[in-house]
Amino acid sequence: MSIVQTENLTYTYSLGTPFEKTAVKDVNIAIDEGELCGIIGHTGSGKSTLIQHLNGLVKPTSGSVFIDGQNIWDKGVKIRDIRFKVGLVFQYPEYQIFEDTVFKDIAFGPKNMGLSEDEVSRRVKDSAEIVGLRPETLGKSPFELSGGQKRRVAIAGVMAMEPKVLILDEPVAGLDPKGREKILAQIKRYRDEKNATVLLISHSMEDVARFTTKILVMENGGVFCYDTPPKVFGRAAELASMGLSVPQITRVINRLKSAGIDIPGDIYTVEYAVKKINEYLARK
Ligand SMILES: Nc1ncnc2c1ncn2[C@@H]1O[C@H](COP(=O)(O)OP(=O)(O)O)[C@@H](O)[C@H]1O
Ligand SMILES: [Mg+2]
Repeated sequence: MSIVQTENLTYTYSLGTPFEKTAVKDVNIAIDEGELCGIIGHTGSGKSTLIQHLNGLVKPTSGSVFIDGQNIWDKGVKIRDIRFKVGLVFQYPEYQIFEDTVFKDIAFGPKNMGLSEDEVSRRVKDSAEIVGLRPETLGKSPFELSGGQKRRVAIAGVMAMEPKVLILDEPVAGLDPKGREKILAQIKRYRDEKNATVLLISHSMEDVARFTTKILVMENGGVFCYDTPPKVFGRAAELASMGLSVPQITRVINRLKSAGIDIPGDIYTVEYAVKKINEYLARK
């Protein structure tokens, strides 16, 4: 069964005013448990608006959202419980840090869930470890930390609620390549250790290609496609016409192919390209 599902989901900002804007149009998605789903699309394609529906932060103008098969806006469903099940990390979450110690900031969510002090403490330590924060950092003020460290604190704060579905809006935007790599690996680790489902918005095709099991491509408020990375990046020309690109390595390989060099298969990571090129050279 799909853990995240939408049916004809539509959302219009400022409905009934001259500023009316339909940001999400008739979206039907079904994401299976355990998937690490990348969400890509041009700026303004509705990615952020879509994900804010999935934990009930935004109520659909029409259509439905189902989490674990349950319509989250049905009578009797507590949105609070949905928020615990579906954790949302906003873009630039470091700006939402407010407690005076890292420990307290990460503890805010789990405390709010009414967990015992011991359990809160276990979760804070556990999630700090997942995002690579050292134990001694927990006693510091978050405001003494670097931007990348603050981002980790904010992500750990949502992970500490141990949501079954973790959704992140551009979690590595603005970080240097090493920082990006680490945070993406930590997000993957959360998913592996907690058997969680992860959705992450990204505008880096390279990141999406390496880290996801499925890719949702949004176009103009709607779903262009939802498929595995090779299938999605196999549609290079269509993506280009939307202002999206395939990973750089896929472009390189496509050029080689069009120059008559026979490297078979769908190639979208550098590691796989190296393997295929070596095989080609060995054949020659
Ligand atoms: N608070 C808002 N009020 C009005 N329009 C908005 C608001 N937030 C986003 N929009 C519009 O909705 C569309 C989708 O935006 P968004 O979901 O932020 O897309 P993305 O995350 O893909 O860049 C855009 O046209 C954007 O200008
Ligand atoms: Mg956005």
